[in-house]
Formats: sequence, structure tokens, C-alpha cells
Amino acid sequence: MSSTNAIPTEMDMMKSDFLPLHGTDYIELYVGNAKQAAHFYKTAFGFQSLAYAGPETGMKDRVSYVLVQNKMRLVLTTPLRSNHPIAEHHKKHGDGVKVLALMVEDAYDAYAQTMQRGAKSYLEPTTLKDESGEVRLSGICTYGEVAHVFVERKNYQGVFMPGYREWKSDYNPTPVGLEYVDHCVGNVGWDQMNPWVSFYENVMGFRNILSFDDKDISTEYSALMSKVMSSGNGYVKFPINEPAEGKKKSQVEEYLDFYEGEGVQHIAVATKDIITTVKAMMARGVEFLQVPSSYYDDLLDRVGPIEEDLAPLRELGILVDRDDEGYLLQLFTKPVEDRPTMFYEIIQRKGAKSFGKGNFKALFEAIEREQENRGNL
Ligand code: FE2
Repeated sequence: MSSTNAIPTEMDMMKSDFLPLHGTDYIELYVGNAKQAAHFYKTAFGFQSLAYAGPETGMKDRVSYVLVQNKMRLVLTTPLRSNHPIAEHHKKHGDGVKVLALMVEDAYDAYAQTMQRGAKSYLEPTTLKDESGEVRLSGICTYGEVAHVFVERKNYQGVFMPGYREWKSDYNPTPVGLEYVDHCVGNVGWDQMNPWVSFYENVMGFRNILSFDDKDISTEYSALMSKVMSSGNGYVKFPINEPAEGKKKSQVEEYLDFYEGEGVQHIAVATKDIITTVKAMMARGVEFLQVPSSYYDDLLDRVGPIEEDLAPLRELGILVDRDDEGYLLQLFTKPVEDRPTMFYEIIQRKGAKSFGKGNFKALFEAIEREQENRGNL
């Protein structure tokens, strides 16, 4: 038996995990025009048509398109009338993430466990059935207007969930190699990072695995602070950012201004071959943040030997960072909507479990140049 003051091992954490999460089930975005957004995610990001719900399937008030690429599912939802709560959400925030859905073994238990620890309810436990079986759902609120929906689909063989039909399309651009959701980052208000860190610790059983203060994440002008929260088994990671005081406006503050509140800043998606993935996305019109080419002049001195050739990394602007366990390659898109709000990260991990701290300075200077162009710095 271990002594009471021993540091818990990973095994202890898993044994005491009251909310075992199997990963991200889907991410739902509320958007202004789901039909066109679905076309964008198919064309530019290589997602495949999976399922559809709307008036034709009995859902009279909105439409949802479900897209898939390997293990990642996106749901794009638009209301059909102005007097719908989703229309209010879209009027305020523009396009953005509403639901970060998490795969669980038991959606009713996930709800009971989190509610008894102080969660605010988003969706009471409910069972949806059709001829393909049943999906059990429940949900709790997190920062801003974002929700976590717990999805239990072990007794379901259908294409997505009851209420949806298979979406077959004649337009099927090839995938670009996006594999699964690596992490999802939330932007919260001034002094709100620690309260949300406590929420993930106390209500969801997460632990804080990394912290960055404004000394780590600071350029000459703008700053932010960040803490990375991980589920007990490490399958789900939610870094939480808050703005910090700098000479000029923090990128998190710009987000909060334009999203008109807290919300998801970026979704990081894993690939096994970032050079091929990014090349394909660029050819299909996705815009990425670019660092100056001087970033590559002493890159290998900074990160040590890597397996990739430097030339394609330099050509595509892919960033590299190393930690004790290995290295990672990453690149960030520009915001994918007109407001300077949500964007994507493409990440390939080669042993590293961290988040690219060595790239923060070059990256944030690139973001500041974009902010400057928008007149928001
Ligand atoms: Fe990230």
C-alpha cells in the first residue's frame, strides 16, 4: 500500500478516475450557413460526408451536417428561423464551438458524478433510440456558452445517432490525413483561468499538467497565461488561456472582444505526416500563420536532430519544438471565420507530449502582425 503523501502514479489516477473519457466524440459548431460550412470543411480540410439532420428527418427547426475524417467528427448546425436560441448564439458570437462532446462508458453516471461535484446542467440524461440501437446523452456547462455533452454509443450501430440519416454526396474530396482531436483550447476572461482550472479538477477529475505564465508567453507587447488540463487517463486535454497585461492588447483579449465572451480558441488536430497534410490544405486554400524565414536559420541548433528535411518545413512554415520526451511539429491556421476568433492547429507528435512552448514567441509575433493589420493591437 502506498503512503498517504506519495505522489499518485498514473495507475492510481486511472483507478480513482470517476469520469473515464475515451476521447472526443464530436465537436459541434453553430454557424451561419451549415450547408456552405460543410462544403468548406470537405473542400479545404478533407472531411467526408457522414450524416444529416433537418426538416427531412423530422428536425424542423434547424439543420446539422456531420462530417468525419478518421476519428474526428464535426457537427455543423444552423437554425432555420430567427427566433431560435441558436440564432441568438450566432448573432452574439458568430461561428464558433458550442459542444465539445466526450465519449463515455456511461452517460448517466458521467452526469451524476459531475453534477454531485457542482456542475451546471446543460442536458439531463436522455436515451435516443432508433432501429440501429440507442445512444445515451447528458451534458454540463463549461466556460462561456460552451457545453460538454457525454456520449455513450456502445449500443449503437447507426451512422451517427438517432435523428440523423446517412449523408451520401457525389462530391467527395480526398482526406488530408487529419486523424483525431489532440487538444481544444479555451479562452476565458481576466482572472478566470484559475476558477476554470478548479472546475476541471473538482468537477471533472482533470489535473493540471503544465502551466505557462506571462513570462513564458510574452512578446514585447502582448501576453497571456495558460494552464493545460488533462483527463485522468490523458485522452482529453483542455488548455485554458486568460489574457495578461502587456504594452498592447493580448490576442486573448482580441478574441474575447470579437467573440463577445469566452469560448474555444483553437482545436488542435493530429496528423501522422504534417508535411503532406499541410501541403494538401494549402493547395485547397487554407491560410496558415507564417513565421519569418529566419526562424529556420538556427532551428536545428535549438531543437536538435529531427527526421524531416528542413527544406519542406521552411517552405510550408511548419514549426518544431522539443521537450524531454521527443519533439513535435505544428502549424496554426488563420481564423476560419470573419471575426478574429477560432482557428485550427495541425500537430504531429514524435514523442513530445507538450504544446510547443519554444514556438510561442515566434508565433505570437506572427499573431501580432495579423492583429496590427486588423487595427486591434
Ligand atoms: Fe494548441
